[in-house]
Formats: sequence, C-alpha cells, structure tokens
Amino acid sequence: MHVVVTGASAGIGEAIARAFSARGHGVTLVARRRPLLEALAASLPGPSHVVEADLGDPATCTAWLPAAEAALGPVDVLVNNAGMQVIGPTAEVDIERAELSLRLNLLSPLRLTHAVLPGMLARRQGCIVDVASMAALAPTPAMTWYNASKAGLAGASEALRGELRGTGVHVVTVYPGIIETDMGKAGLAAYQKSRMLALQPRGTTEGLAARVLKAVERRRARVVYPAIYGMTRWLPPVTRWFMDRLTPPLAGH
Ligand SMILES: NC(=O)c1ccc[n+]([C@@H]2O[C@H](COP(=O)([O-])OP(=O)(O)OC[C@H]3O[C@@H](n4cnc5c(N)ncnc54)[C@H](OP(=O)(O)O)[C@@H]3O)[C@@H](O)[C@H]2O)c1
Repeated sequence: MHVVVTGASAGIGEAIARAFSARGHGVTLVARRRPLLEALAASLPGPSHVVEADLGDPATCTAWLPAAEAALGPVDVLVNNAGMQVIGPTAEVDIERAELSLRLNLLSPLRLTHAVLPGMLARRQGCIVDVASMAALAPTPAMTWYNASKAGLAGASEALRGELRGTGVHVVTVYPGIIETDMGKAGLAAYQKSRMLALQPRGTTEGLAARVLKAVERRRARVVYPAIYGMTRWLPPVTRWFMDRLTPPLAGH
C-alpha cells in the first residue's frame, strides 16, 4: 500500500509515517524541511519517497504527485496532516500569515483530495485521512483563523465520507486534542497558565498514530484523541459554555 503523509518532518505526521511503515507500507513523506524527511526515510523499515514541497500554495501543492506515484504506485492512503497554528488577538493578527493558514490547513488538503480521488474511485479503493483538530469541535478563543480552517476541513471530511459510501473509498476525520509536539507546546505557551489548562488531558504522537492506523484498517469514521474529548460531539452547548468561560487569557494580555 502507498501512504502519502503531508507534514511528515515532525510531530504527528512523523509518527503516522512511522506507524504505516512499520506495518510494511510504502510511505511518501512531504514537508519543507528535506534533511528531516531524509533522516526519517533512512530510519524507516520499508520503502519511502521524500518530497520537499511547500503546501502553502494550493496552485502548486499537487505537482509532486506524479513522481510519488511513479516511485511507489497509486496513492492508497492520503493523510492530510500538514498544518500551522495562528494564535493571537483577532484584531491584531498578521493577515498574511492568517490567510496562509487557511491555504495550508484547508485549501491544500481539498486540492490534494481532488487530485487523488479519481484514481481511488476508479480502483474502488482508497482512504483519505484528514487531520482536523479539537478546534473544530470546541473552537477556542483567540484562534479565529485556526478554528475556521479546522472546522472547514472537518466539515468537508465528514460529509465526503457520506458522499463516498458504497464506492470503496473511505474517509477518516481526526480530531486531536493537545498533543505534545512543537505546535502543541507553542499553543499551550500562548495562553496564561491556568488550572483548566493544567487539567486538560494530553496525548502522544505515538498514541494518535496508532489510532489513525487502526481507523484506516478498520474503516472507522473518526478518531477523537484523547478519547475523553469525544463528549464534545454530544454536548456542543456545554462545550461552548466551558470554552467561553474557562479558556485562559493570552499570555501577556
Ligand atoms: N499538536 C497538537 O496539539 C495538535 C492538536 C490538534 C490538531 N493538530 C494538527 O495536527 C497536524 C500536525 O501538527 P503537529 O502538532 O505535528 O505540528 P508540528 O510538529 O508543528 O508539525 C507540522 C508539520 O507540518 C509541516 N508543514 C508546516 N507548514 C508547511 C508547509 N507550508 N508546507 C508543507 N508542510 C508544512 C511541517 O513541516 P516543515 O516545517 O518541514 O514544512 C511539519 O512536518 C496539524 O494539522 C495540526 O493543526 C495538532
């Protein structure tokens, strides 16, 4: 099986690439930092293909796909994982960076899906994995653009699964809570220290990757991790109440 993982140079994407490779699958590793991708590729047990690409431009974000398919065969699993976070007062946010986050987190995954889907449908098999965020289920104050990008991706992902029923192509929507990566740590540091933040359950990249692998293999609809956050899907008004009242202010504000 050929698994494409975007944002494979670090954090969650790296762990997902390791998990699929350990299962014997070929993996295409996509990100901007080639040395990190090459080091990862060298440490994997199975075949891999390295792609240095900036996915922040939807117009060019699929250009590397033909070479990847020539190297490892048609794409069986696309993991849309690359992403960035924008945290700060909405009135003061750097608008260029904010719009880049929408292109990287939302438009590029949709373009990549559009590019691989015809082949998957023709073969009547395949899987799209969209790494959204708990920000889609529990939008967080001072993350306006991130919330928008992740809610957009999650909405598209959930509905695509329904659209593709009976085609053989499956969609997994992933909702990570706080995962201890560079992004996760930066996110925590952006807010003032609080008991609410300290009490919030956290997850590991390995734990999330194992759940994503299982969801693809067993054709599960979604992964919410840590699992306790699953209650937000059933209790949206309560979730909103907590987020509005208990999210600590930004550090330095
Ligand atoms: N950590 C959390 O708490 C958390 C929670 C919920 C959701 N998520 C989501 O999980 C995904 C992975 O996050 P993470 O925590 O693993 O973050 P991370 O450690 O910061 O890794 C982000 C990955 O995305 C890649 N990337 C960033 N900008 C890119 C660009 N313009 N083009 C191509 N690749 C790019 C990075 O590679 P290069 O820098 O080498 O390009 C890196 O491999 C993201 O979509 C994030 O929103 C994370």
